[in-house]
Amino acid sequence: MTQSTFIIIAIDGGAAAGKSSTSRGLSERYSLMHVDTGSFYRATTLKLMEAGIKPSNDSTLENGLASLKLGTMLSNNTASITIDNWVPDHSIRSQAVNDNVSHYAALPKLRSFLLDYQRSLADVARDRGFDGLVMEGRDIGSVIFPEADLRLYLHADPAKRAQRRAKEGISDSIEKRDRIDSSRKAAPLQVPKGATLVDSSELSLDEVIEKVATMIDSIRSS
Ligand code: C5P
Repeated sequence: MTQSTFIIIAIDGGAAAGKSSTSRGLSERYSLMHVDTGSFYRATTLKLMEAGIKPSNDSTLENGLASLKLGTMLSNNTASITIDNWVPDHSIRSQAVNDNVSHYAALPKLRSFLLDYQRSLADVARDRGFDGLVMEGRDIGSVIFPEADLRLYLHADPAKRAQRRAKEGISDSIEKRDRIDSSRKAAPLQVPKGATLVDSSELSLDEVIEKVATMIDSIRSS
């Protein structure tokens, strides 16, 4: 692979494992477009909740999803989803969304609704002149980009993750979400086969980024 080759980096892991900070750091360092797919599930969850569509109601879900028009907005290196021209804001990080998002994300219909959209973002990154894409979520290395150049699974022990959220001043249902995300049938949270496990429990953000940068440099120079 040459220096100019477009690279795709998939980062999976549980809630508050450090995926976003790591992805943002890598996106700046390597001019990669950053995509946080958790925000897609949060934004669609909020829209469905506002429309009164419950995860248990399969028949209204299909029509509800069909009526949502997805778009993309780029802000610096980060690509955000837009839904009917709405740009998701802090409301997608509310307690109500934290409590409900994993129940909606377990629905195969919602996952397939977002599948092609997520894959299409590689072309957006190419068209916008980025040198690659770093996408974070729960099923990126297993389902969305199983052929990614680098597939990572970021782990951090539960106490460290709770500490991180507390520092951000956010009350989150980390363990509950992880439990639901790992046990669902559709695209469960798991270490993708062949992915590299990075344990960030005892590492600073800079140390995690350096560790991953070594892997990226080796891919780019091979
Ligand atoms: O990454 P974040 O914690 O914001 O994700 C919120 C929720 O979205 C997760 O708990 C999970 O239920 C869902 N999700 C998912 N698949 C992804 C990204 C997020 O199911 N690729």
